[in-house]
Amino acid sequence: MKKLMAANWKMNKTLAEAGATATDLAARVEQRLAADREVLIIPPFTALAAVAKAVSGAAGFFVGAQDFYPKDKGAFTGEIAPAQILDCGAVYALTGHSERRHVLGETDAFVGQKTAYGLGSGLKVILCVGERIEERRAGKVEEVLTRQLLAGLADVPRDQDPENLVVAYEPVWAIGTGEVAGPAEIVEAHALVRSRLGRKFGANGGKIRILYGGSVKPENCAEIMSLDNVDGVLVGGASLSAESFSAIVTA
Ligand code: PGA
Repeated sequence: MKKLMAANWKMNKTLAEAGATATDLAARVEQRLAADREVLIIPPFTALAAVAKAVSGAAGFFVGAQDFYPKDKGAFTGEIAPAQILDCGAVYALTGHSERRHVLGETDAFVGQKTAYGLGSGLKVILCVGERIEERRAGKVEEVLTRQLLAGLADVPRDQDPENLVVAYEPVWAIGTGEVAGPAEIVEAHALVRSRLGRKFGANGGKIRILYGGSVKPENCAEIMSLDNVDGVLVGGASLSAESFSAIVTA
């Protein structure tokens, strides 16, 4: 199982900036990428094709989308279908990112619909889960993660290829705040996710990668990567510069 080092650029970068950052990143990382690591760049839709082209020759590099709509085509103004993402040369997509849940109002059920649809359409899907600070303070971490995983995976078949499904644990209070979850909090949450995956997928649950996300930086990445059940990271702010993300990828 290769570790996945993912850069979520969110709503940042023009076409020229995205292409330049991807090219710079590939040049910095290519010769130094550990054999057991993969790099994933998740730019805005507008830059998917350009980034895919920029990293097409870089071994171990992949491109993904931040979102998609769970239909193959039709009258869904403003939306993007899985086939259009694949058409750009991207193979991954996120579902359930906390900003989509809490800023754009996506429900657990809709996230589940997207996750199953994306996998069924040939995308590799990264299902994001995570509790808000008030839920953590109220002792509800297990309850929230269980609810989000049950709904998020409800329509995913039990014989799902574990290579194509990834779960990202991103505590909402650690995203973009500079406040990284502590090792004990990460280990506890990832163990919970792992056990839930085992219940649903049996032995294959052990082969599904679990990423940590939330204020990952070059300085804290190596420690986070060394923790049990951490199979990679999902990075926002610190992934925007090639210098900082290359340091994370090679940490
Ligand atoms: P951050 O974002 O690294 O800026 O905290 C992580 C994410 O939202 O995926």
